[in-house]
Amino acid sequence: MALPSSNLTRIGLAGLAVMGQNLALNIAEKGFPISVYNRTTSKVDETVERAKLEGNLPVYGFHDPASFVNSIQKPRVIIMLVKAGAPVDQTIATLSAHMEKGDCIIDGGNEWYENTERREKAMAELGLLYLGMGVSGGEEGARHGPSLMPGGSFEAYKNIEDILLKVAAQVPDSGPCVTYIGKGGSGNFVKMVHNGIEYGDMQLIAEAYDVLKSVGKLSNTELQQAFAEWNKGELLSFLIEITADIFGIKDDKGDGYLVDKVLDKTGMKGTGKWTVQQAAELSVAAPTIAASLDSRFLSGLKEERTAASKVFQSDGFGDILSSQPVDKAKLIEDVRQALYASKICSYAQGMNLLRAKSIEKGWDLKLGELARIWKGGCIIRAIFLDRIKKAYDRNPDLPNLLVDPEFAQEILDRQAAWRRVICLAINSGVSTPGMSASLAYFDTYRRERLPANLIQSQRDYFGAHTYERTDMPGSFHTEWFKIAKQTKI
Ligand code: 6PG
Repeated sequence: MALPSSNLTRIGLAGLAVMGQNLALNIAEKGFPISVYNRTTSKVDETVERAKLEGNLPVYGFHDPASFVNSIQKPRVIIMLVKAGAPVDQTIATLSAHMEKGDCIIDGGNEWYENTERREKAMAELGLLYLGMGVSGGEEGARHGPSLMPGGSFEAYKNIEDILLKVAAQVPDSGPCVTYIGKGGSGNFVKMVHNGIEYGDMQLIAEAYDVLKSVGKLSNTELQQAFAEWNKGELLSFLIEITADIFGIKDDKGDGYLVDKVLDKTGMKGTGKWTVQQAAELSVAAPTIAASLDSRFLSGLKEERTAASKVFQSDGFGDILSSQPVDKAKLIEDVRQALYASKICSYAQGMNLLRAKSIEKGWDLKLGELARIWKGGCIIRAIFLDRIKKAYDRNPDLPNLLVDPEFAQEILDRQAAWRRVICLAINSGVSTPGMSASLAYFDTYRRERLPANLIQSQRDYFGAHTYERTDMPGSFHTEWFKIAKQTKI
């Protein structure tokens, strides 16, 4: 296809793996002529071919970086979709050599936010602008409407706002799933926490499945029905929807269902681990997200678990499961409520982490606005996010989602079912680390007095770390050891 009459395209995209190809086609489909480039040039030709097949979309391919950069109108904007880390630095070096003052590079990968801040500084020294933009929604989202989380140079954002507003997922009544997130690496950070929340959601769903299957003895057909039913109510979400689909898919390589043949070992690329590390760094409790990460670690120990199952099976532990008589309909409803309540706690943790980081970095993140742009396009998209947005609209300084009046009521209404499910799971020997961590988070947060008084006493006893008192101000130390000598029993 010939270049537009100006002989220049509106934007460029470098890195043409499937995500990159799909995003380029999406941009072109929205009416923005786009130049594309990839180091392996066959990918360029493949993208141009796809553009032809998918409706003669205005995608222009280039095999060398100089002509790629020069084909874009100024100030030039190039989105990079390459593997995080060193490939990003290499691509920046290749492209920036041909770019001019005022041009901009956008990294659309799952990058560590500090790398983005380092690159933004280095680019500024060359007079170039930089954005780190979280892109969520997988391959489908990239092609038909992702959730976009751009952070960094506001000037750069403004240069392509019109494109992003059209390319992002569109949600009726709440608009395109994109907003300027804030300065520096905030876009990458927000995407990282999105992924941490995604880990939490997936773990909670997996536990719901485990309880229903292992304790409730539901078949895959019954599981599919239960999840499809849940997807009509307050749990309506992309992850619940695909979960229902998964239970209906038969194995094309043998008998039965595919899900039963999939090895129980979870992979990961790192964003969930970063989320938990950041939570610890900022002293924000995120036990549900941490439990989901730990569960991935433990899932990886397949051989050890197989050996351990034999050790404990021989002790009769394996018999616990079969002895439970279960009312399936009641269990399904209890698990649904437990999942919903656990999810509230998990999101509360993610949002609190975002707020803590925003304060530390002066990003001024708008939590309600983040919930809005996650309502469509991304992996955690859910009707539930609308409730979170409304909670922050009601009170932008909400210390915790749990104390929003609506969420508080929802938790109270569900706590009996929530406790029943966890007790049943514990008594059946089925682990529910995410749901249990959520419940413990709630039970810890809602109690005025915790046993932390004893921990402070112990710290002061062995380390003279001092303690505060409930009845008078100041810092106190007691010679616990000396006194204990007289009171020892
Ligand atoms: C998204 C996804 C995407 C990717 C995750 C998977 O928002 O589109 O989160 O970024 O699928 O990186 O992460 P793990 O491989 O760590 O599960």
